[in-house]
Amino acid sequence: MSSTDQVYPPSPEFVAQANANEAMYSRAANDPEEFWAEQARRLDWAVPFTRGLDWSDAPFATWFADGKLNVAVNCVDRHVDAGKGDRVAIHWVGEPGDSRDLTYSQLKDEVSRAANYFASIGLVAGDRVAIYMPMVPEAIIAMLACARLGLTHTVVFAGFSSAALRARVDDAGAKVVITTDGQFRRGEPAPLKTAVDEALGSGDDAAPSVEKVIVVRRTNHDPDLPWVAGRDVWWEDTVAEASPVHEPEAFDAEQPLFLLYTSGTTGSPKGIVHTSGGYLTQAAYTFHNVFDHKEARDVFWCTADIGWVTGHTYIVYGPLANGATEIVYEGTPNSPDEHRHFNIIEKYGVTTYYTAPTLIRTFMKWGRQVPDAHDLTSLRLLGTVGEPINPEAWRWYYDVIGGNRCPIVDTWWQTETGAHMLAPLPGVTACVPGSAMGPLPGISAKVVDDNGNELPQGEQGYLVLDKPWPGMLRGIWGDRQRFIDTYWSRFAEQGWYFAGDGARYDENGALWVLGRVDDVMNVSGHRISTAEVESALVAHPAVAEAAVIGAADETTGQGIVAFVILMEESDDHDALITQMRDQVAVDISPIAKPREINIVPELPKTRSGKIMRRLLKDVAEGRELGDTSTLVDPSVFEAIRSQRA
Ligand code: PRX
Repeated sequence: MSSTDQVYPPSPEFVAQANANEAMYSRAANDPEEFWAEQARRLDWAVPFTRGLDWSDAPFATWFADGKLNVAVNCVDRHVDAGKGDRVAIHWVGEPGDSRDLTYSQLKDEVSRAANYFASIGLVAGDRVAIYMPMVPEAIIAMLACARLGLTHTVVFAGFSSAALRARVDDAGAKVVITTDGQFRRGEPAPLKTAVDEALGSGDDAAPSVEKVIVVRRTNHDPDLPWVAGRDVWWEDTVAEASPVHEPEAFDAEQPLFLLYTSGTTGSPKGIVHTSGGYLTQAAYTFHNVFDHKEARDVFWCTADIGWVTGHTYIVYGPLANGATEIVYEGTPNSPDEHRHFNIIEKYGVTTYYTAPTLIRTFMKWGRQVPDAHDLTSLRLLGTVGEPINPEAWRWYYDVIGGNRCPIVDTWWQTETGAHMLAPLPGVTACVPGSAMGPLPGISAKVVDDNGNELPQGEQGYLVLDKPWPGMLRGIWGDRQRFIDTYWSRFAEQGWYFAGDGARYDENGALWVLGRVDDVMNVSGHRISTAEVESALVAHPAVAEAAVIGAADETTGQGIVAFVILMEESDDHDALITQMRDQVAVDISPIAKPREINIVPELPKTRSGKIMRRLLKDVAEGRELGDTSTLVDPSVFEAIRSQRA
């Protein structure tokens, strides 16, 4: 960016009413412990904490460890107790057009019923529960019921394959899986429970930890839904019949709240561990300040799926801890047509809309006549998450959706960070389109070179988080060493968390996140590792070797491009490519299917046998090749290019 680029200061009207203020930065910097304790005290503690951060066993942190609280009570009961029971917590909109509103009182009853049933089948604090569901209210109810009992949930995105579900269920040792009979996709019911059956197997192959499968009736599409007697129960016959009165217990601040599996550079997905007190503190704090939330006035909408961390923190824990009223929408943005999101904004008077850059770019493609056909004047704040937003999309969002009136918060964070880390503060920060601006009060970040030296403005380096934060991951489930190796070994000497992203500060001090510097791809804001897709491809019997890269894509940020070598030459490449893409869908998810698969005679390798992905990326993005001097045989590119032609 050059200093002449336009900045967007908040309007005086916005400033006058903002939750956040400039002084928060200095207050947090001068005494971070006290700053975070103050944020934590916005929650209800059954036993107040006397300590903040304990970093004596770094990189394993604890926060507020001698305090006790119940996360579900903080998200539900305390609002009812404060006389806000009739306030709508969730305006739920189903894909076929059905809808349901849940007040905080109703949510309390539903969560209590689920907690009573979960306890009745013998689940006790610390047990794991897998949730594999579309965006129905019961998914949120199930998460909160787990929190209420001190159970650890692991939500698995319902678009993941049964193989991916099985891997997560086994790794977590989940005792219960909660699912639905089916899910709606573009107006049609698609089976989901059958994927659970497939995942859990039977006989010798049965998932060893699973005792029960609880099924919510959603699509009702199959009168002969396969049923495993003794294992499977309907939610309607069990949870719905349980008592709506449940006495909550308080748990340690460090009680594990959830595991969420995410992709890294190597190996199988990792179960990121989040705990209760610190996580909820940061979720609630960021929701209040970054979304400038006003409880009696705002209608919040985060368009993510609860299968991702964004859904955990900004559909479930952040908004509900603040007593918010929010939209939960089940379906896709173009079902039944491209007006869906704008109809919802108009109908419910959405004030705060939080989505991913890939959807904004899709809206741009659909054209401004779609949003222009709607009254969007209820909106007062917009947000983005998941990938860098290009300045053009930012300006379009600001102008066409926000009517040149709404601040945009570009929020950078990760599954591992638990909640927002870098973002402007609305009402305080003058925004630069495309920049996440800087660390929030209480958060510390640096841009450094290979040796950990801080880089001057304008120079590109690695993004590190040099101080612990309350919402930080507490580890990788079942693998202490992997946690240390993955996040803390790159800058071990300094004791910094390496985020995996590149970044730079510009000459005005705005921080730009430049995308991953490791082998993790970002497709429509979904995090997918090259290694995972490669191993799915080589699982196909015809494939000898595969190399996968993320190539720039106008709409999805990155698209997956694969280069494969066959075991033996075949004359039906098209059929093989279709099978390979299907293999990826089966092993991981349809979202990980490569956009393009190139069958090539060779892959570019260094003398030590390393595949030069950087050069494959040059090819896929249509650039001149970078330095090829370390390749065994630079001429492989002739063959690769001719395959793509
Ligand atoms: O590369 C960054 C990108 O998404 C990664 C984290 O992915 P995940 O754990 O799936 O969480 C996504 C939602 C929190 C980061 O390492 N990323 C996320 N938000 C931004 C971003 N890149 C640039 N700008 C953002 N606002």
